[in-house]
Amino acid sequence: MERIVDYICRYKNNNFLTATSAEHIDSLETFHVRDSDIFVVTYPKSGSVWTQQIVILICELDGGHNDYPNNMEQMPWLEYPEGRLDYSRRPSPRLFISHLSPALMPQELKEKKGKIIYVMRNPKDTVVSFYHFSQICADLENPKTFGDTLERYLEGNVLAGRWFDHIRAWNDTRDQYNILFLTYEEMVLDLRAAVIKICSFLGKNLSEAAIKEVVHKSTFKIMKEDKKANYRFVPKERLSGDFLRKGKIGDWKNVFSVAQSERFDQIFQERMADMDLKFIWDSAEQKEEP
Ligand code: A3P
Repeated sequence: MERIVDYICRYKNNNFLTATSAEHIDSLETFHVRDSDIFVVTYPKSGSVWTQQIVILICELDGGHNDYPNNMEQMPWLEYPEGRLDYSRRPSPRLFISHLSPALMPQELKEKKGKIIYVMRNPKDTVVSFYHFSQICADLENPKTFGDTLERYLEGNVLAGRWFDHIRAWNDTRDQYNILFLTYEEMVLDLRAAVIKICSFLGKNLSEAAIKEVVHKSTFKIMKEDKKANYRFVPKERLSGDFLRKGKIGDWKNVFSVAQSERFDQIFQERMADMDLKFIWDSAEQKEEP
């Protein structure tokens, strides 16, 4: 692995934290996928741990296991095993979370084994969320200014590389997988509809009461106090602030300057013009949680 900037290594065109190895990444190619495996895949700061919570709750209410101490143990990072190498002994359904690009994912997924939920978020909010997260996460470099973070983000010298490349790679290969595309914004605007969509993709037939429970426990307010889900279980030396920070659409407007926003829009147009994907950038439609 080649160290490209402090804290970030590059391997096979993907950027990683230092807590993994080339051997581990290589081993994923031949990872045996079970039909019942579920993978949540995202570009960082797109709603990964939120989707993790929703999928875990759906599986639990469908009669699955809930004997793990927290969501990170229950749905571990595929590329950061942190000592959990006994995935083959895990009971089904096994749950995994990942920021990998498709090229590094287990090849058996292309035989349409397992299911992938891919969540995207508008990139301006994603970079703002990453900027704030970098200030509290010891595994990432503390940025001097938002401008520095934005430069690195556009260059792709951040965790998981360029947002544009991640989205394109997954969108271009989506026909090869059992995959559901969702956006963070649609989850914010109608959480219940998103939960129902996920249930139906996973083939889980939950009762109305169970769906209500999933929605309730996945709201920002409740999840932020949920000890298994809020990531306060990560030691303070590694994470010194709240993982669930704001949970809004359009927070970028509080951080981007007009010039930064215009430049970003131009780059977005150049890189995304040929892609048939719509993003929501504005909070106008966001309702307050009950
Ligand atoms: P903000 O920093 O904008 O608040 P990831 O899990 O991919 O790292 O994404 C983190 C982002 O998802 C953070 O965004 C976090 O607040 C938001 N998030 C996490 N749980 C959420 C929830 N239940 N509702 C809305 N947003 C949530």
